[in-house]
Amino acid sequence: MLLAAIFGSPRKGGNTDQMAEAFLEGAAGEAGAGLRVERIYSRELRISGCLGCGYCDDEGVCIQKDDMGGVISLLDAADRVVLASPIYFYGVPGQLKLLIDRSQAPFMRKQLRAGQGQEVQNSPRARKGFLLSAGATRGKRVFDCAVLTSRYFFDALDIAYAGELCFREIDAKGDIRRHLTALDDCRRAGKEFVAADRS
Ligand SMILES: Cc1cc2nc3c(=O)[nH]c(=O)nc-3n(C[C@H](O)[C@H](O)[C@H](O)COP(=O)(O)O)c2cc1C
Repeated sequence: MLLAAIFGSPRKGGNTDQMAEAFLEGAAGEAGAGLRVERIYSRELRISGCLGCGYCDDEGVCIQKDDMGGVISLLDAADRVVLASPIYFYGVPGQLKLLIDRSQAPFMRKQLRAGQGQEVQNSPRARKGFLLSAGATRGKRVFDCAVLTSRYFFDALDIAYAGELCFREIDAKGDIRRHLTALDDCRRAGKEFVAADRS
């Protein structure tokens, strides 16, 4: 099983990085040698914004050649995808949003294939996605936008949204370690996320 982890924070070693690592630890403990993990760090990639040019409407691929090509290959191959992101202005950080917007090309590729009566790639494998997030405030709706964006990102890639784990009042680097249950919750979620594949 291939589990791709997208680290969406610009802050290396920050709260959501730690949440993602705990989640991966839980997954590895459950799946053992049968699990391959690939980490994608949006902060390290050179990904241009979607141009809205419509090239992918006809071609199913993006006209721009940058690091997004490698990301799509990896996400195409993944059985599971976990997305970890802090909240920035009620949404996800810009670097991650660039990656998400560029999933328009694989979404259009799917539409084109469906239009040609071809089976959608990967659909029989019931791919699943999970969101991990943290924000500084206590706001009731602080995760609404990130959850919706993640849901539609996964949907574009033919990945079923399996759920999320979000923590409020997490701000300074390392705050997540001071939370009584957060990292254990992430470990448990990672374990369950890969265990589901065996049922
Ligand atoms: C530019 C910026 C915008 C932010 N906007 C929000 C926000 O709208 N709501 C919120 O609850 N926290 C906001 N935060 C706080 C982060 O979500 C919080 O510090 C989080 O724990 C960072 O996670 P990380 O360490 O994984 O980057 C913002 C932080 C930054 C740097």
